[in-house]
Amino acid sequence: MPAPRILVTGGAGFIGSHTCVALIEAGYQPVVLDTLVNSDARSLKRVACITGVEPVLVRADVRDAAALDRAFAAHEVRAVVHLAGLKAVGESVADPLGYYDVNLAGSLALARAMDRAGVRTLVFSSSATVYGDSHPSPIAEAAPHGPVNPYGRTKSMVESMLADLSRADPRWGIACLRYFNPVGAHESGLLGELPNGPPNNLMPYISQVAAGEREYLVVHGADYDTADGTGVRDYVHVMDVAEGHVAALHRAARRPGILMANLGTGHGASVLEVVSAFERASGRRIALRIGPRRPGDAPAYWADARSAWRTLGWRARRDLDQMCADSWRWQCANPHGFDDPVPALVPGAALFQNNDRGINIHSNRGHTHV
Ligand code: UFG
Repeated sequence: MPAPRILVTGGAGFIGSHTCVALIEAGYQPVVLDTLVNSDARSLKRVACITGVEPVLVRADVRDAAALDRAFAAHEVRAVVHLAGLKAVGESVADPLGYYDVNLAGSLALARAMDRAGVRTLVFSSSATVYGDSHPSPIAEAAPHGPVNPYGRTKSMVESMLADLSRADPRWGIACLRYFNPVGAHESGLLGELPNGPPNNLMPYISQVAAGEREYLVVHGADYDTADGTGVRDYVHVMDVAEGHVAALHRAARRPGILMANLGTGHGASVLEVVSAFERASGRRIALRIGPRRPGDAPAYWADARSAWRTLGWRARRDLDQMCADSWRWQCANPHGFDDPVPALVPGAALFQNNDRGINIHSNRGHTHV
């Protein structure tokens, strides 16, 4: 039996490429649809190094109905994991129409194409940002939406559109995954996050300071009403997030209707706690300066992770120390990102295997290197 094919829109990006690894490990064959505007096709070579399987790449825009029809016709797709979209909050404030176009029109075009193709199992990449900043933590899925920027509103609107669709047509099985703060990298050091320019997000910024690429971290505010005064978030390992997609896919394929699930650990960590964990993982001191609060930042929030466990049988397994250790391994092994070489592979053979003895990079068939 050939492996069931899953269309992964945005599959060459940070979360997408890790999701491809998790899908392949679970016995699926990802078909990636990506414009590569914000990602790099070489991430899929790294997926092949880890798993022995390189996902097929369809270079196309998720708004392109004809390209979607061709992809569904060519690949006998069983289900879709939809991650393609724009995700920078500040950019969404400056260019709302661009965000509504890609995120909203893209999801609409995709849902229509799925319907035409008779593929009605969908996992949608949503965000904790749909909750806004007025809920006490931990935040459960039933908390009302209150997004505070155009990016968040696009995610909230797509969720509403999909809820309407599932009410109208019970053949659909849909899971919306609300990510908290995905960080880290694959434990092999072969796959990780590649920010475009100076990172906006905390973990990649710290990682570049540890590597000596940046002088110091600016802590955006140390006068919040939190234990140490710095912002608190629910950081979740990207491989846990990736595995959450597989769990959601199983659920959506089995059960019609729509499900919302938080992907978080259920615990918050402050900026200073993340800095300390990264210092432990890297053995380097992270220089920092306290700056003003960043406009739009909430002081503290974290997930109520119980529903994801109940409904998906998923919970985060990797802790903050592992998130930092894996980020650091990726940073050290790839100072030039995907420009750094990886050993050549025999097609179909994996370079990485995580076994009981720890983390190894080696052949799983004895003849991987050529
Ligand atoms: N921070 C710093 N210095 C930095 C970067 C971040 O102190 O250089 C702090 C922030 O103020 C915040 C914490 O680190 O307290 C986390 O900030 P991130 O930018 O890493 O993450 P956010 O929580 O701001 O944003 C994330 C996603 C967004 C999403 C948002 C809400 O990156 O896409 O969560 O869900 F919209």
